[in-house]
Amino acid sequence: MRIACIPGDGVGPEVLTASLPVLALAASRHGVELDLVELDWGGERYLRTGVAMPAESLDVVRSCDAVMFGAVGRPDVPDHVLVRGLIIALRQELDLAVNLRPVRSWHGVPSVLRDAGGIDLVIVRENTEGEYVGVGGRVKRGLGGELGLEVAVHSQPVIERLARFAFDTARTRRRRLSLVTKSNAMYHGYTLWDEVVDEVATDYPDVVFERVLVDAMAARMVQSPRSLDVLLCSNLFGDILSDLAAALVGGMGMAPSANILPGSSPGVFEPVHGSAPDIAGRGIANPVACLLSGALMLEHAGLLPAAESVRAAVATALSDPSHHTPDLGGTAGTATLAEAVLTTLEAQRVDQPVPAS
Ligand code: NAI
Ligand code: MG
Repeated sequence: MRIACIPGDGVGPEVLTASLPVLALAASRHGVELDLVELDWGGERYLRTGVAMPAESLDVVRSCDAVMFGAVGRPDVPDHVLVRGLIIALRQELDLAVNLRPVRSWHGVPSVLRDAGGIDLVIVRENTEGEYVGVGGRVKRGLGGELGLEVAVHSQPVIERLARFAFDTARTRRRRLSLVTKSNAMYHGYTLWDEVVDEVATDYPDVVFERVLVDAMAARMVQSPRSLDVLLCSNLFGDILSDLAAALVGGMGMAPSANILPGSSPGVFEPVHGSAPDIAGRGIANPVACLLSGALMLEHAGLLPAAESVRAAVATALSDPSHHTPDLGGTAGTATLAEAVLTTLEAQRVDQPVPAS
């Protein structure tokens, strides 16, 4: 597998460097070698050249089977320049319609909840339009009384494609799907969501389907997260709720994601978190979100046993608090936690069934 590696900024390079040996070992154990193509795209390149990624970037990425992405963003460059110029651009130009964000609790990892055990949900987030489509403008700039317009775009084909993916995902899990909108107040785009997803739901009578308004969902995620299985969300709501979900199971360092177009490659696999400038450069970033993003990459490439072996090794490493990074209340560094995962993986016998984690 040819993997484009975009470490990016801040903790991005730290977590990606720590994760790659684990992913390479898991893949090679299952007969696949990873050929890594390192790309210097991100904030530093922007400051040097005026663009975060080169004009031929799409060709480069399309010549690969998958992209592993760290994070972008640095304090000395306006946020929207890098986030839009790199990660949102990749999602939109590769038409990566689905942003998959699984969230589960891990034995031994502390939570803000009294009992986080058994949380296991997945956010299926729309990834190319909605509120992040970039339509709008600033009017009367500098004249006083300035206006900012941000137009959300929701389209039937994109909603339907995403909904089918989400229902199919629910069929591989506990067969429950919650559509998250705000159609009581934003009644143009979100009533379209309601109607399109209601229609798709009729093709999935075996999946328990409900509609939940996003504000109520925020409360429910905290109060009864175990009642949730698949959450189907617009771009904005999926972005916000996935940080909330991550916080329930140990924080931003624990949340992986996959940007995919089902049936197509390359996908972009990245931790949900950003460049974390507050902790960058100290070697203490939690690599788990990146490792689990790599597991999603292996799974998407058809290497499910390799993906499961990474998850099982992460579970074993996390069960020992001496491997915990500061965000989990420990004192271990990025390298210590990643090495514990690697050592556990090395000790796994390939023919041994992967323990349920
Ligand atoms: P952030 O996710 O970088 O950080 C939020 C909090 O989580 C911070 O306290 C940070 O220390 C902590 N955190 C994040 N990752 C961690 C890890 N691996 N281990 C331990 N703690 C971790 O979000 P923030 O601060 O809003 O954004 C920082 C920069 O990242 C901004 O420039 C933003 O635009 C960018 N960003 C980029 C994203 C991407 O590349 N996909 C996504 C989100 C933000
Ligand atoms: Mg976010």
